[in-house]
Parts: sequence; C-alpha cells; structure tokens
Amino acid sequence: MRKILVAVLGIAVLVTAMGLAGCAKKEAGAPSAGPKRKLIAVGECTFAPFEYIDEKTKQPAGFDVDLIKAIAEAAGFEVEYRHLDWNSLIPALLTKEADLVVSGMTITDERALQVKFSDPYFESGQAWAVKEGSPIKKLNDLAGKKVAVQVNTTGDFAAQKLNAKFAEEKLPEMQIKRLDAAADLFNELKTGAVDAIICDLPVIQEYLKNHPEDKVVIPEPAFTVEYYGIAMRKEDKDIHELINKGLAKIKASGKYDEIYEKYFGKK
Ligand code: ARG
Repeated sequence: MRKILVAVLGIAVLVTAMGLAGCAKKEAGAPSAGPKRKLIAVGECTFAPFEYIDEKTKQPAGFDVDLIKAIAEAAGFEVEYRHLDWNSLIPALLTKEADLVVSGMTITDERALQVKFSDPYFESGQAWAVKEGSPIKKLNDLAGKKVAVQVNTTGDFAAQKLNAKFAEEKLPEMQIKRLDAAADLFNELKTGAVDAIICDLPVIQEYLKNHPEDKVVIPEPAFTVEYYGIAMRKEDKDIHELINKGLAKIKASGKYDEIYEKYFGKK
C-alpha cells in the first residue's frame, strides 16, 4: 500500500514538473515547446544594405532581415519582416502592429524614452556626400548649401545641430530638405536638386558601390559615432531577453560574422 502511494505521488510530482517546465519554456519562446511564437519585425526598406526590397523576390532583404531571422532561429521564435515608412515604425510598435523595429535604427536617448533598445548590433555614423567635382570639400563648406536628409533620422538631427553651429559662427545655415524615404536622398543628389546629402556612412558606401556611374563621393570620414539597436516595447521584458540572448548566441556561433561578411566583406 505504502509503495503504491509513494509511486502515485512520485508520478504526480513528475507530471506537474513536466507541465511547469513546458509552460516556462513556452513563455520564453523556447524551440522545443510546441508551436513557436511569432513576432512581427518592421523596417523602412529603402536603406540598403540594411533593408531594401529585393528586385527579384519583391520581398524585404538585407543585413537587418538576415540578422533578425538568425536571432529568431537561435532564440526559437518565428519572425515575419515587413516594410513600413520610417515615421510609422515606432508608432507601429506602440500600437502593437509590430513587435520589433529592425531598421538600422540608432540608439538615442530621445527614442529610449519611448522604446527599449536591444544591445547594440552595429557601429555606424553620419557622413556627407556630394557629386564629384563639387566645391564642397569639408563639413563647414555645407554652410548655406541645400542638403537632403531622411526625416527624423539621426542624419536629420545632425543637420539641425550643424545649422545651430553655423548660426553661432555667423555662417549661413543649410537649407535642409527632409525626405520620407532614405533612397530619395540619392535621387535628389543625382538630379542636382540638392548640393549634398547627410546619411549613415555604410548606406552611402553601398550606393557608391552599386552606382559608380553617378559619381558620388564621400570627402570626409563619418562625423558621428552611433550604434544600431532593435527597438521593442518597454513592457515586453520576455522579448528583450529573447532578442539579447539570440544576438549573443549568433555572435558567439559565428553566424553574425557570416551575415556581416555577406554584406560588408571581411572585417
Ligand atoms: N540610423 C539612422 C537613424 O536611426 C537612420 C536609419 C534609417 N533607417 C532606414 N531603414 N531608413 O535615425
């Protein structure tokens, strides 16, 4: 009798423990716990090589798309990546239309008031570019010139800061053209609608690589240092953990380097 009781109790304890383990795993989005949790990632896909629409597949592609897919695989969740306009990204997060913003988004104190950023995943910075033969040779030469930026990006903020500096130095301010899509910057420069653009250096470099015929040059190195992070809702503590753990995992496994090299070559 006693033996049977012990056995029954034992089984009960085991079943409960298994059940609890199952729940715990499911909440953390672990791979072995039933159907995987699905998260929606968004980005503004005119920002090659980070996110762009692939000409053949018509689907979002790029460093950020590969990165979040690799993180999802490592952390055991499913991800769908969608294009949205830049100004809609953080609102989409806050209204729960999306769960992750993966869009070459720089970690800034102002944005961190609204969203939680993952650990940094890429070092970047703002640079400026002109057409070959332009009389603009250094940053200060931008004073009084027409300059295009993507609206509400760190390029936009850098341009405004630069204008404040020009004003202080009694130099003429730049006329800043704030465009919706990052890709439009290059069209404006090409057609001569603006004298210069300010944008993230790796994005300008990618453009140069793909459009040598446009004869765009980057006269100086980047003038800011910035880090990209994945933006999430502040309250989604479980998602913060999934993303940071997944990121750490793909950094340790060499998967991050593989993706890096695919888009930027050897480090
Ligand atoms: N890094 C800059 C920022 O965070 C520009 C990012 C633009 N990203 C894009 N997908 N258009 O403000």
